[in-house]
Amino acid sequence: MRSIDEQGYHFEEWLTPKQIAEDVQQVADRISADYRDKEPLFVVVLNGAFVFAADLIRALDKDIRCEQTFIRVSSYFGMATTGQLEFIVPLQQVVDQRDVIIVEDIVDTGLTIHQLKAHLRAHGANSVRVATMLFKPAKLEYDDAKPDYVGHEISEEFVIGYGLDFDGFMRNLDAIYKVKK
Ligand code: IMP
Repeated sequence: MRSIDEQGYHFEEWLTPKQIAEDVQQVADRISADYRDKEPLFVVVLNGAFVFAADLIRALDKDIRCEQTFIRVSSYFGMATTGQLEFIVPLQQVVDQRDVIIVEDIVDTGLTIHQLKAHLRAHGANSVRVATMLFKPAKLEYDDAKPDYVGHEISEEFVIGYGLDFDGFMRNLDAIYKVKK
């Protein structure tokens, strides 16, 4: 099993690139079925979701017409949430009347999704759903943040890789690694 040591923490491989690809395809198939007659707008939450989003949109059925836009928010410092969502790159595209799919790397407390959904609805989105590579159900604090499309559920451990960072690093790993205590 592959492992990585970073800043005094030991991480072990949890999802291999092959498992990730299967999860992504499963999410893409469900979105393709649900949005066949729509033109969804993917709102990709930077920085973490860029890797998942790149794979997800290419795994959709080829007849799905869709657009992508990017938003950058931050609520984390190191391994802990600060509780405050900061819009570092604000919404750049008109979402009025659009069927929006927020793309996240991981839904943890749900604060990010809770606030983003309110933001997108306030800007007139017709519908807002959430696709996330990972979901930590045991940590969810906001009912409306439960994701619609989930690659893989995970318990409360901190993970890195496949877009997920530890203080800005490790996003480039092709697998997802769990911290070991
Ligand atoms: P939430 O707002 O509490 O749901 O947190 C969502 C954001 O926290 C994600 O987009 C990640 O940037 C970050 N995050 C939460 N858990 C982890 C983790 O285990 N590893 C890396 N980032 C995480």
